[in-house]
Amino acid sequence: MKNIRNFSIIAHIDHGKSTLADRLLEYTKTVTGHEMQNQVLDDMDLERERGITIKSHAIQMDYIEDGQQYTLNLIDTPGHVDFSYEVSRAIASCEGCLLVVDATQGVQAQTISNLYLALDHDLAVIPVINKIDMDSAHPDEVEDEIVELLGCDPSEILRCSARTGEGVPEILDAIVKRIPAPQGDPQAPLQALIFDSVFNPFRGIIVYFKVLNGTIHKGDLVKFVNTGEQYHADELGVLKLKLAPRDKISAGNVGYIISGIKDSKEVRVGDTITHVDNPCSEAIEGFQEVKPMVFAGVYPIDPEDFENLRSSLEKLQLNDASLTFTPESSIALGFGFRCGFLGLLHMEIVQERLDREFNMEVITTVPNVSYKVYDKKGNMTEVHNPAGLPDVTTIEKIEEPYIHASIITLSEYMGPIITLCLSKRGTLTNQKYISGNRLELSFDLPLGEIVIDFYDKLKSISKGYASFDYYISSYRESKLVKLDILLNGKPVDALSSLTHADNAVSLGRRMCEKLKELIPRQQYDIAIQAAIGAKIIARETVKQVRKDVTAKCYGGDVSRKRKLLEKQKAGKKRMKQIGTVQVPQKAFLAVLKLD
Ligand code: GTP
Repeated sequence: MKNIRNFSIIAHIDHGKSTLADRLLEYTKTVTGHEMQNQVLDDMDLERERGITIKSHAIQMDYIEDGQQYTLNLIDTPGHVDFSYEVSRAIASCEGCLLVVDATQGVQAQTISNLYLALDHDLAVIPVINKIDMDSAHPDEVEDEIVELLGCDPSEILRCSARTGEGVPEILDAIVKRIPAPQGDPQAPLQALIFDSVFNPFRGIIVYFKVLNGTIHKGDLVKFVNTGEQYHADELGVLKLKLAPRDKISAGNVGYIISGIKDSKEVRVGDTITHVDNPCSEAIEGFQEVKPMVFAGVYPIDPEDFENLRSSLEKLQLNDASLTFTPESSIALGFGFRCGFLGLLHMEIVQERLDREFNMEVITTVPNVSYKVYDKKGNMTEVHNPAGLPDVTTIEKIEEPYIHASIITLSEYMGPIITLCLSKRGTLTNQKYISGNRLELSFDLPLGEIVIDFYDKLKSISKGYASFDYYISSYRESKLVKLDILLNGKPVDALSSLTHADNAVSLGRRMCEKLKELIPRQQYDIAIQAAIGAKIIARETVKQVRKDVTAKCYGGDVSRKRKLLEKQKAGKKRMKQIGTVQVPQKAFLAVLKLD
């Protein structure tokens, strides 16, 4: 055990975590030349294309220093806020971490939030300044920021280029010298922490764990403490580039177990594995159910695809236990599902995977958060869809989730950022200079306000010089009202939203204006109205037109005429018929596109 080192790499998005991991694997000869593909740990196609790490992965390296053989377990972690629970579990299975900071960008929001997670778990932190090969690198300033952040000595900070490999041997040396070996008793009752799992279509679910105490042998009867399920350890092993089977894994080490598990719900990151016969007295603490906070309706474009959509979602859920879905129906969109996501990026990824892996074309409605609605008798229900809000006369109060947000930016963008957050019903709770003209702003904000076009606005007003991170802090009572949109007098449930009473009129007006742009003229006038309860607060009209697509086909060219008519028919397919009105898909996302 004294020659094992368990570590992770934490960094703000794009600071070079995966590239550095590639260099470490190469230097320790864990992967050979022809296996080397950029970012070998990001093995999902989608990950490689988007250049981001979605799921955590782990890999074991052999490394020899001063004649001693070391086992280095690298746990790769996702950098994005939506997946912070996975980051925290991965970190919990390490004794140390590399804190990677981009020499051109300096300390950013997720550098800090990930560092706090690491410090919470008492990890040894090795600060590394990456990308020193770049012309725009300013490592000395970044070094000052890190000294300020960690209170460390400048000599402790390493510099490297994950692209050229410069500085990589020094990093391996620091891992061995500065990160403590794991502790634990191989003879004690088994206690292993699940930090990740992946679905393999041939083998079932592969569960990744770190043994804190005890030893697990092939064939043992084990149970997962929080779910209560029991399994035989059919196959055990360590994680090389491929799975490498072993007969046992002991305290301090990281490994995988395969037990024919098919349902991702049975495997929860953060759960404890122990023996059925000689169980540990307590589960590893900190187990937490990840709860989706952002919800949206997902509907097949072709109503016949409803069952296909269900089976696609089921398959996706197999390796993404944080995705939830329940059937719902909408008068406007027919039968579909209300899906729950960890955040907006998660939602985007699910949508893209449906399209790419399952060829499912879907309409996604405007996302909303999870509300707590209290009736006059004091009963609480969680409402995941504005259309499902109970009769207002029965409601005592509505609470919505609030986040604590941290934004790191340059001082010249401070004014516009504060204005943006205030316009989103936020309050500034703190501001602090990090170095020179860079500062960290903290806000309390309703989550519901950031699920709609917040990132994009933040990015554009700061010209990209703002990084953002958040965690859910509380539920608070808010004056929320349901805003309905009516087309020719009929409410369209898929366009309803819950919004703050003070913003409802202006939102209603802008929604009507936007829908007027998006809904094409048809054979009759279309009235677009916004209403709160029975009160109409805004109205626009789309004037009628009679569009004769064949008018310009003079003479008798029949085939050309037919082609045009077919084209028009295909165009109609991408429309949804609501009552007498044809509504294009993009109208359902109108609220996201308001100026
Ligand atoms: P996420 O997985 O999305 O969190 O990103 P990451 O932190 O893993 O970053 P990644 O390794 O994907 O690197 C981001 C970009 O920076 C890629 O285009 C890399 O090629 C580039 N990059 C990483 N390290 C270096 C470096 O040392 N020098 C230069 N010039 N580019 C680098």
